[in-house]
Amino acid sequence: MPGDPATVELKVRIREMSIDDLPHVYHIGENIFTVEYSATLYRTWDEYEITSLFNTDNELCLVAEMRDQIIGFALGTTVEKHHSAWKYGYLIWLGVRPDVQKLNIGERLFKEIKRRMKEMGARIIIIDTDADNSAAINFFKKQGFGNVEKHVYMSKNLGKSKKAPVKKHE
Ligand SMILES: CC(C)(COP(=O)(O)OP(=O)(O)OC[C@H]1O[C@@H](n2cnc3c(N)ncnc32)[C@H](O)[C@@H]1OP(=O)(O)O)[C@@H](O)C(=O)NCCC(=O)NCCS
Repeated sequence: MPGDPATVELKVRIREMSIDDLPHVYHIGENIFTVEYSATLYRTWDEYEITSLFNTDNELCLVAEMRDQIIGFALGTTVEKHHSAWKYGYLIWLGVRPDVQKLNIGERLFKEIKRRMKEMGARIIIIDTDADNSAAINFFKKQGFGNVEKHVYMSKNLGKSKKAPVKKHE
C-alpha cells in the first residue's frame, strides 16, 4: 500500500550525495530550515553549508532517494577536540521532506550516518537543535540520545543604541 511505512522502507535508498543532488537538498532544506527555525542556531541553512560539507566530508553527506527523487538528507562531520582522545561525530543537518515525514526515512538516514561515523572512529555523536523542536527532540531520544545540555544564546543589537530614559523619583 503506498504510504505504508513497510512499502516505503523497500523503495527508499540511502546513498552518498552526488553533485547533482546539491540543488535538491538545498531546496528541501530551504523549506525546513526557515529563518524561524534557525533564529537561535548559530548556523544558517545556505548553499555554502552543503558545498563545504560536500567538499570536506563527502562520506558523511547522505541522501534518501525514492523513485528518482531526493526526499531527505543527513549532513555531518567529525570533530577532534584538544586534550581529548575521543573523536566525535557531529550530525549537523538532518531533514526529511515534509510530505514524507514520519515514515522512518529520518531513522534510516540516521542509522547510516551513525554507522559511517563509527567506522571513522567516532565514539560519541552530538547533535544540536532548538529547544522548541519537539519532533527532533523526540526523534533523537528514540535514537538513544540523552544528556540534554541546555545552552543560552544571547544577542546584542549593534545598531545605534537609544539611551534608556532616566526616570525621576518624585
Ligand atoms: C526530525 C526529522 C528529521 C525526523 O524525520 P522522520 O523521517 O519524519 O522521522 P522518523 O519517521 O524516522 O521517526 C522516527 C521517530 O522519531 C519520532 N518523531 C519523528 N517525527 C516526530 C514528530 N513530528 N513528533 C513527535 N515525534 C516524532 C518518533 O518517535 C518516531 O518514531 P515512531 O514513528 O515509532 O513514533 C523530521 O521531522 C524533519 O525533517 N524535521 C525538520 C528538520 C529538523 O528538525 N531536523 C533535526 C535537526 S537538524
